Amino acid sequence: MRLAVSNRVSLVPTRGDIMKRNISARLATTGVAAVLSASVLAGRSSESAANWKAPRREADKKNPVPADGQSVARGKEIYAKNCADCHGAAGKGDGPKGADLEPKPRDLSSSQVQAEGEGALYWKITTGRRPMPSFAKLLSEKDRWHTVNYIRTLGPATRPANN
Ligand code: HEC
Repeated sequence: MRLAVSNRVSLVPTRGDIMKRNISARLATTGVAAVLSASVLAGRSSESAANWKAPRREADKKNPVPADGQSVARGKEIYAKNCADCHGAAGKGDGPKGADLEPKPRDLSSSQVQAEGEGALYWKITTGRRPMPSFAKLLSEKDRWHTVNYIRTLGPATRPANN
């Protein structure tokens, strides 16, 4: 009889056992979460920035603001104030604030970016993608189009306003 009782007692886990088990379960979960977020981050940074594609409907949007001298001048002003910190004074993606970002700010003068439709550029400025902020609330629609017109002047060749 005494044997049965002591057996039963030893089968009941002590408080210490339960805590140990909980902690290791929690550690295991955190470990899994850390591995998961690490692989998500790795996937994100190895993904080329060129994969940021505007939805077709947005990319097809026509620029309603003519790229005249006034618009480009306004776009340049907006760019210097809102974008140059990250994208650099000439749009090369080498602004002081961009150095530590992942992914890096894009070189807006590159042929890849210049090949994008103006609707696509406008949409990207509007929505942003971390670490780039959305400018939907920071800039008016018109100012965003002025900025697109300015970006167009950063390319190696001048392009027609609506590509
Ligand atoms: C906090 C830094 C930061 C600021 C400020 C910022 N950007 Fe960006 N921008 C980025 C980063 C980083 C990317 C790359 C994002 C990606 O590919 O996921 C990017 C990407 C872009 C792209 C997409 C290029 C492409 O086709 O792949 C455009 C266009 C752009 N930025 C324009 C602008 C303009 C215009 C402004 C100012 C109104 C601006 N950005 C402000 C960091 C910034």
